[in-house]
Amino acid sequence: MSQPSKKISVALLFGGQSSEHEVSLMSAGSIIENLDKEKYELHMVGITKEGRWLLFTGDPAQLSGGAWEKGDVAPAALSPDPSVHGLVVLGPPARTIHIDCVFPALHGKNGEDGTLQGLLALSGIPYVGCNTEASAICMDKAVTHTLLSAANIEQAHYLWFYSDRFACAPETIKNRICARLNFPVFVKPANAGSSVGVSRVDGPQGLDEAIRKAAQEDVKIIVEEGVTGQEVECAVLGNRQDAQASLVGEIGASAAFYDYDDKYVNGTSQLYIPARIPQEAAEEIRETAVRAYRLLGCSGLARVDFFVTPEQKVVLNELNTLPGFTSISMYPKLWMAMGLTYGELLDKLIQLAFKQAGC
Ligand SMILES: Nc1ncnc2c1ncn2[C@@H]1O[C@H](COP(=O)(O)OP(=O)(O)O)[C@@H](O)[C@H]1O
Ligand SMILES: [Mg+2]
Repeated sequence: MSQPSKKISVALLFGGQSSEHEVSLMSAGSIIENLDKEKYELHMVGITKEGRWLLFTGDPAQLSGGAWEKGDVAPAALSPDPSVHGLVVLGPPARTIHIDCVFPALHGKNGEDGTLQGLLALSGIPYVGCNTEASAICMDKAVTHTLLSAANIEQAHYLWFYSDRFACAPETIKNRICARLNFPVFVKPANAGSSVGVSRVDGPQGLDEAIRKAAQEDVKIIVEEGVTGQEVECAVLGNRQDAQASLVGEIGASAAFYDYDDKYVNGTSQLYIPARIPQEAAEEIRETAVRAYRLLGCSGLARVDFFVTPEQKVVLNELNTLPGFTSISMYPKLWMAMGLTYGELLDKLIQLAFKQAGC
């Protein structure tokens, strides 16, 4: 009689010390629901907003709203020692758990920006998504813009500065913004996500307030000229050699721009799959998405976001290396439209993690 094959042990990381903690809980909820329990042995590891790592063994329904933190938890951490290859649980009882693959369902700072990926690289455990360098590059909108403009990829006109420079010479920087960019402009923290700290500014008088708000999220600030057009997104899946682009999806935002509430609270923005754009624009987006993905050294997955102007000009906005992953999020929905179920997408991402690690 053949032995039942051993399950793959997956650690799902969720929560995190980021302004997108709650979004991560939603993404993790969907992943837990859809991960094939016949194939995988799931270990849920939550990171609190304070940065505590807890192995959670309770009901996944407790994730939303944060009740899990007070539920069945034990302090645990991922060991940087590759001979452990897993989690060290402080107990009771103290023990180690072997992990075959880590799935970081974390967004934003300390999850999507390379910090966690550095620890994962040290641990020697294969993990889903981009490596440290690509994660850090894509998280920083100023670095992404600089690298992609060197490759002649169309983006909004922009400039960036450190907030301490603004504190010393606000008028110089504001004059530079007004001389180089047309209003409206978008003021953003260079490193953040989910529209946190992002403001649309219609004239010079609004700059101080918007810069102050962005500076609460990051020391680096980027200001971009507003692009008028449709907001569209393309999901890329694969490692450098075999990266593939999905169909293009469109966001019909209900607010002045696609802000945090629109994304996660009101649920009022509508997704159109495929996007309501001409075939040629969609082709250009798919090609540019893969080109940017390869250029920045991405692997596993990324969602590449664009604007399409009324003249059909394609303008790249940003790359998200750990995009929203709920079952109603754009990334999984785009692959569903390509014929992959959510569960199959998870299988594929885990396979890509093993392949990237040379397993
Ligand atoms: N240059 C721009 N022109 C027009 N709208 C913009 C521009 N930059 C950002 N936005 C709007 O603000 C939203 C959030 O900005 P984005 O750069 O995507 O930051 P985040 O990383 O927080 O998602 C976008 O989805 C879009 O609606
Ligand atoms: Mg965005």
